[in-house]
Amino acid sequence: MHNTHMLEFSKNSDEYGNLVPIEGRRNIPFDIKRVYYIYGVDQKQRRGFHSHNDLHQALICVSGSVKILVKNPNEEEIIELNDPSKALYIGPKVWREMYDFSEGSVLLVLASEYYTEDDYIRDYDEYLADAIEYYKNI
Ligand code: TYD
Repeated sequence: MHNTHMLEFSKNSDEYGNLVPIEGRRNIPFDIKRVYYIYGVDQKQRRGFHSHNDLHQALICVSGSVKILVKNPNEEEIIELNDPSKALYIGPKVWREMYDFSEGSVLLVLASEYYTEDDYIRDYDEYLADAIEYYKNI
């Protein structure tokens, strides 16, 4: 799907456990300016419901599992994240919703820019109008 794909990180695994290093522009396609994580989400809760104009993100479920719905005017996918060595890259102009957070799950997000509400599109009709134009040229 446009502007989304899975990333698979190399693990340093030995009898002591696993270690996954992530370096901006080395094993993810952007420099990391911001890190946040989502946890303690009720299993019935659905979050997200937005798109970004310019932001690049990598979503990693570092504990437990969560489903991510990504869509644009022409495509839609549901990805279950349940492996701390994999990330879902989401670029600009992709609508996303997160749900089915397992108990105790932690969703880590690496982002290419500092937080600004100006970069969000939270209204789905507004998203569609903008995205139809954007994806027409791809
Ligand atoms: P939001 O991005 O809407 O969460 P989700 O998409 O998971 O439902 O963010 C929830 C709240 O947290 C909102 O008030 C904005 C704030 N926030 C920050 O202050 N900084 C951040 O980096 C992020 C991602 C959110």
